[in-house]
Amino acid sequence: SSGKINIAIDGPAGAGKSTIARRVAGMLSYIYVDTGAMYRAATWYFQQLGIEPEDEEKVLQTVPNLVIELIPGEDGQRVSVNGQEATEEIRSLAVNAQVSRYAQIEGLRGRLVSLQRQMALRKGVVMDGRDIGTTVLPDAEVKVFMTASVEERARRRYKEMKERDQITLDQLIRDIDERDRLDREREISPLRQAEDAVLLDTTNMTPDEVAEAIVSMCRTYVRKRETE
Ligand code: CDP
Ligand code: CDP
Repeated sequence: SSGKINIAIDGPAGAGKSTIARRVAGMLSYIYVDTGAMYRAATWYFQQLGIEPEDEEKVLQTVPNLVIELIPGEDGQRVSVNGQEATEEIRSLAVNAQVSRYAQIEGLRGRLVSLQRQMALRKGVVMDGRDIGTTVLPDAEVKVFMTASVEERARRRYKEMKERDQITLDQLIRDIDERDRLDREREISPLRQAEDAVLLDTTNMTPDEVAEAIVSMCRTYVRKRETE
């Protein structure tokens, strides 16, 4: 084998998953897969077509035609849906507001999960999301469940937002709380810590410290495997 492993990173919104996953992938020369971007891209696409999350039948009719591409670029990853560039659009307040509703639809999840599994077949993948350790890659060699207090997560998110004038920090805390609630309470692969995942509370950690901690878990895993 290549000696490579897969790394699953799950947790609630704004915990730092994508920032850290991207860094860890860079440090190990692995591939980063942002599964949240895939749910966001699908959401943006349905919104373009005027298909509401309640209209499951229409959503399911459209799913087979959905082509989502994650393209590594100079300043981060670019996202396109059926050939349409949507990198900026998928981070909008409109997408934020509805993504967790589309993400409850079983047929959509099934399609995205199978794409995600294909991307990880050759190992050397850092994947972040909500159900990676539990459902997408239950055999991932290293699993992390990343959290931080909701206030800290909202503060982090607020800082990087381009639409700050349209939302207050308090509103953002409520938005994040609501999305977490929907993600935790949904029936199909809800957000939860896998039994064999390591819990990492990053409230008082810098991104460097978090990335170091995960890379060191990976090194420990590989060393242990080599001596067995
Ligand atoms: O970056 P942020 O934490 O705001 O969210 P994200 O990772 O971009 O994911 C956006 C939404 O997609 C989540 O709130 C979930 O509803 C959904 N999602 C999911 O259901 N399963 C995943 N593996 C990843 C995201
Ligand atoms: O992907 P997820 O929604 O979990 O979080 P993110 O999109 O990576 O956003 C987290 C934000 O908090 C980024 O702007 C990071 O620079 C910052 N941050 C962090 O991710 N981790 C820390 N330990 C401290 C700050």
